[in-house]
Amino acid sequence: MKKVFILSKRNIALLGLGTVGKVVYEEINNNVSYVLVKDITKKRNIQLSEKIITNDFQEIIQDKNIDIVIELIGGENPAYNYIKKSIKANKNVITANKEVMGKHGKELLNLAEKNNVFLLYEASVAGGIPIISPLVNDLSANEFSSIRGIINGTTNYILTKMSNQKLELSDVLKEAQDLGYAEADPTSDIDGFDAQYKISILSRIAFKSDVSIDQIYVEGISSIKSKDFGYASELGYTIKLLATASINQDKNLLVKVHPALIPNHVPMSSVNGVLNAVEIKGDLVGTLWFQGAGAGAKATASSVLSDLIKIQNTEKKIDINRKNTYEITSMSSHICQYYLRLNVSDKPGVLAGIAMEFGKKNISISSVLQKDLHDDGSADLVIMTYPSLERDMQASIKQIKNLDTVFNIKGMIRVESYK
Ligand code: NAP
Ligand code: HSE
Repeated sequence: MKKVFILSKRNIALLGLGTVGKVVYEEINNNVSYVLVKDITKKRNIQLSEKIITNDFQEIIQDKNIDIVIELIGGENPAYNYIKKSIKANKNVITANKEVMGKHGKELLNLAEKNNVFLLYEASVAGGIPIISPLVNDLSANEFSSIRGIINGTTNYILTKMSNQKLELSDVLKEAQDLGYAEADPTSDIDGFDAQYKISILSRIAFKSDVSIDQIYVEGISSIKSKDFGYASELGYTIKLLATASINQDKNLLVKVHPALIPNHVPMSSVNGVLNAVEIKGDLVGTLWFQGAGAGAKATASSVLSDLIKIQNTEKKIDINRKNTYEITSMSSHICQYYLRLNVSDKPGVLAGIAMEFGKKNISISSVLQKDLHDDGSADLVIMTYPSLERDMQASIKQIKNLDTVFNIKGMIRVESYK
């Protein structure tokens, strides 16, 4: 049975009829007057009156009967432009667009406040998991010290398959795309930008700080190989793309996205497939854990439609108090353990040379695995360090790369601390 969201009004314009847009349309078609698409001639596997499909945004903006615009196009432009114009025309906006909210959220939220309309974006982070509304509303009495999570479904799906089935990234990407998880341009997922936009959105709310995209360290998963999962497992870890925002010892905010070694005994290590999970630490509430489908048409539609119900049921606009509370710090001051996979000459003294370079920066080695002797006489060497400063590690890596006995540093993964 179809759910009735907005009684009998036809007051909604839907921008985008792709993976998510189709499910949203099916749930609220009685209330939709326009569906904006790129290609109006495209064959669509959905019942749709030809009268409502358009590629002319001007029609929508000029129609006074439209008071809600749902943006499900994706990407920065024209989505940003359409959202801005809708708000300026005093229309409420719902979006699932993390790129727009990550890059332009501050400006658009201010504009929405000024125009006294809603700009809701629950679906922009972690798909079906309600995370923005709890941070804005139910947890607003807290001061937060950290948010960390798996907030990209595509890469989590890929890493899970690489780990379980010993596949490489390129073997699994198409599957994630076919399932509707990936962005139109999947490099946004693979290179970590999608998670970067999402953690900037969460940071802005939780830490009341304007974290711009270029203040967030980002590293994607393209250097991870299936053999890294085997080595990590021997050391007691798995590998996840982790996004974190945390207050450091100097009371500064560090926001970053990178693959991380996660100890096998913590819950984050068993968040698999398209699932996302977010762990939040608040001074009053303690540690909270949110887990659920992080991508996919229905889960995402759940968040979009919940925003719609919120507009219907709430008279007052939500006021987010965004004052700059924290200084944003850079990655160079981060301290953690490191996993390094090197391709080295299989000769005595190799390890001593590497240890000497580490020693110059006070970096100590905690364990070593020597693996896979190759036909060319080289070998894989896996090194785990004790906690060290990022800037020291980067300086050591530069020196180690120059050693005659080291052919290549194939991978460096940071170890997430759960102490
Ligand atoms: P999608 O399948 O690529 O669909 C995009 C839709 O937008 C298509 O209908 C396309 O029209 C239309 N479109 C593209 N460019 C346009 C333009 N210039 N003017 C007008 N219409 C245009 O995207 P999606 O996966 O549904 O994602 C939509 C949004 O939800 C994105 O912001 C995405 O990041 C977000 N999101 C997606 C998921 C997920 O699991 N897929 C989860 C959470 C959030 P045509 O049909 O004519 O090509
Ligand atoms: N491409 C995104 C992901 C969609 O894989 O997480 C959900 O935001």
